[in-house]
Amino acid sequence: MPPRRPVPNPGFGARLRALMDIDKIADALEQTGYIVLKDALEARLLQGLLSRCQDDGTGRFVASHVGRGTAKQKIETLRGDVISWIEPGDATDTAFLDRMETLRRELNSRLFLGMFDYESHYAIYSSGFGYGKHSDVLQGKKNRILTTVLYLNEDWQPEHGGELVVYDPAGETEILRVQPTFGTMIIFLSESYPHEVLISNTTRRSIAGWFRVSGS
Ligand code: OGA
Ligand code: MN
Repeated sequence: MPPRRPVPNPGFGARLRALMDIDKIADALEQTGYIVLKDALEARLLQGLLSRCQDDGTGRFVASHVGRGTAKQKIETLRGDVISWIEPGDATDTAFLDRMETLRRELNSRLFLGMFDYESHYAIYSSGFGYGKHSDVLQGKKNRILTTVLYLNEDWQPEHGGELVVYDPAGETEILRVQPTFGTMIIFLSESYPHEVLISNTTRRSIAGWFRVSGS
């Protein structure tokens, strides 16, 4: 047997590449425009993200709004989560953003998507809430290229509902249903896939994010 070589301590990029098969992700995005990953990040980081995705009543989480700007409006039947935007600062949040930054760079170099940055937020849906069918590309703002949703629900059961349903670009035919189980991540082309969150019968936690191009 050849002697084992010592493995150098890998940086973020190397660790992400070890965990996420970026070639596979790039191939899927090119061929179908979406991919569902299990165990998308290492367990320790997932646990950290789960502990950050708790509404401790300090005002970190705010009611979500459909759309932004002057038309801001809370329509609970349409969207019933509370959210907390992720900014660098907290070590766990920064670790997550570092992983997504590596993914951005690696995907850009393979697919020439020109993705410029990444915005993301924690989301908590209370029991009885979902998010009606919608597109992530905001009216008049076509800068979202790629959507990611990472799920943080341990012991999720099918009877909890809360699945993500992804439709074909016409918004008519269901093409995919995703259980929001701990460590699952879906990545899809924002403009191509309308989707909805079915009503959840228990608290449902996730991180939604968008890689964007610059400008409007
Ligand atoms: C969103 C969204 C999907 C999910 O936040 O825009 O569609 O499964 N989330 O949480
Ligand atoms: Mn969405």
